[in-house]
Amino acid sequence: MFRSVFVLLLASLISLVFHRFIGLKSGNMVMAIEDVDSMALLPFGSASRIGSFFRLPQCGGPRRTESIGVCYTNLGNNLPDAREVVQLYKIHGIEKMRIYNPDTAILNALRGSNIEVIVGIPNTDLERIVNLSSASNWVQRNIQAYVPHIKFRYVAVGNDVQPSDSIARYVLPAISSINSAISAANLQDQIKVSTVISISLLSNSSFPPSYSSFSSEASGFIEPIVHFLAKNGSPLLANVYPYFTYTDITRTISLDYALFMQSPTLVIRDDNFEYNSLFESMVDALYVALEKSGGAEVSIVIAESGWPSNGSAAATVENAGTYYRNLMNFVPTGTPRRPRRAIETYLFAMFDENLKPVEMEKHFGLFTADKKSKYQLSFS
Ligand SMILES: *[C@@H]1O[C@H](CO)[C@@H](O)[C@H](O)[C@H]1NC(C)=O
Ligand SMILES: *[C@@H]1O[C@H](CO)[C@@H](O)[C@H](O)[C@H]1NC(C)=O
Ligand SMILES: *[C@@H]1O[C@H](CO)[C@@H](O)[C@H](O)[C@H]1NC(C)=O
Repeated sequence: MFRSVFVLLLASLISLVFHRFIGLKSGNMVMAIEDVDSMALLPFGSASRIGSFFRLPQCGGPRRTESIGVCYTNLGNNLPDAREVVQLYKIHGIEKMRIYNPDTAILNALRGSNIEVIVGIPNTDLERIVNLSSASNWVQRNIQAYVPHIKFRYVAVGNDVQPSDSIARYVLPAISSINSAISAANLQDQIKVSTVISISLLSNSSFPPSYSSFSSEASGFIEPIVHFLAKNGSPLLANVYPYFTYTDITRTISLDYALFMQSPTLVIRDDNFEYNSLFESMVDALYVALEKSGGAEVSIVIAESGWPSNGSAAATVENAGTYYRNLMNFVPTGTPRRPRRAIETYLFAMFDENLKPVEMEKHFGLFTADKKSKYQLSFS
């Protein structure tokens, strides 16, 4: 429900923005304005030539593997056990993992592995965790018990909580309690505490990014969190899926724009910034929203991004492989508003999961359940 309202809003905005862009562009594109349907076939943006515009990964910049991780969830009845999972990360040079709850099997398997970990606190635990002694117990049991044998990077308190959810009011108090417990354990410099949001908290998102802000429904929820993160030097974690934005409003976004395949001669201008992919414009939409809510210095970590290989529109092995490969190539370059700063990004997800409730959701794996690589991605 929330999402469809959001999409409607987005769609109307896009058509507005389209007119604005095309209005600004040279005469050869003006005809397209009269035929809205033909826009569906056009890459997002217009065909002005900007030959010099092509950002390449920095030579001698950070290795990709330093900024790329993979989310591990196991909603399948045919998946490898925790030890084999950690082994598979190591074989493929994947140095970061996001897990969604502090499962002891995976935590034990991670001991001594050198893999950096985001550990989540599930939404259903937030209310309980507000209590300082519960938070302190949680940190003792799930963090201190493994330090220094596991390199924890972030604690993600809640995932994709919507402002209208009844638990929304527990998110900041739970972050704050966990943060206090982490500080009491003297781990505050190594382990940052945050939450994971979805792009649906934005209105006017990414079309173009400068219009973006947290929606009026979301701002009462997210702004106090942003201020807390700014004060503590913690990043905001966000799930960013060009796939869903593309499939929701496919009439106005080209597949090429969603897959980082847009010709460099087609570029979306936004103030002094230029965009060649939906992903970078979504990430910068988040940065703009942060700036507008007093969080200019808060950085964004992409807690999930992925593309399914089957089960829905545009979900093919070829598109998914293209998406993951191009995302991995893009990440070291940073976005136009945060250039040359690698975007820490967690690919969703490690495995195809046959017990996911929706067909398309079963096909987000980089690996099949029997550990075969679906896309031959190179992490090192
Ligand atoms: C927190 O939990 C502890 C242990 O269950 C309990 O004794 C204490 O009263 C709780 N504190 C608050 C503020 O609810
Ligand atoms: C979107 O951004 C434009 C330009 O800043 C603004 O005029 C408009 O009111 C915004 N719309 C919404 C729904 O926030
Ligand atoms: C996609 O799913 C359909 C239906 O389950 C199946 O018949 C087809 O073989 C799958 N395609 C691939 C490439 O796995």
